[in-house]
Amino acid sequence: MEMELTINGHKRSLKFARGDSLLDLLRRYGYTGAKRGCDTGDCGYCTVIVDGEAVQSCVTPTKTVEGARVETIESLGTQDDLHPVQEAFVDNSALQCGFCIPGMIMNTTAALRENPDPSKVEARKAIEPVLCRCTGHKKPVEAVMDAAERLESSTGLSRGSEENIVEATDIGSKGATDE
Ligand code: FES
Ligand code: FES
Repeated sequence: MEMELTINGHKRSLKFARGDSLLDLLRRYGYTGAKRGCDTGDCGYCTVIVDGEAVQSCVTPTKTVEGARVETIESLGTQDDLHPVQEAFVDNSALQCGFCIPGMIMNTTAALRENPDPSKVEARKAIEPVLCRCTGHKKPVEAVMDAAERLESSTGLSRGSEENIVEATDIGSKGATDE
């Protein structure tokens, strides 16, 4: 089976099998930033943004994203040119491990578009879907608050705006695997 969707600003026509999750599809086509942790919708490591909403891709049937706009962490920045949310996590020592941090970053990105000026409680809620029993959520919460400030000063736009979303996907086209 084959279907069309937009990934990180690029229209793609991708093959998939019955029973594939969105995570299966993304990883097969090289978008490996979304990690497979529990594979049951509980850990949040596989979070991507679908039509503006953070979703757990491991429990999102591929068929349901036909025609959708999907954003993965590859859309946000590159190692040499980090997105403000990524910079905030680095600078606040909220680096976490390679499994949970993509989920934290994607949940933060979606949440700050929705609510550009979160309280501490709201910042905590933004990353709550991502489990981490190693370091806890204290540093990541600080990173979310800092990311909100960085986005405000870097764009000068309302972060929920269409302009911002377009900007994010444009940045992302640099890091996307386009196969
Ligand atoms: S791998 Fe998807 S929520 Fe855990
Ligand atoms: S699961 Fe990544 S640092 Fe705890």
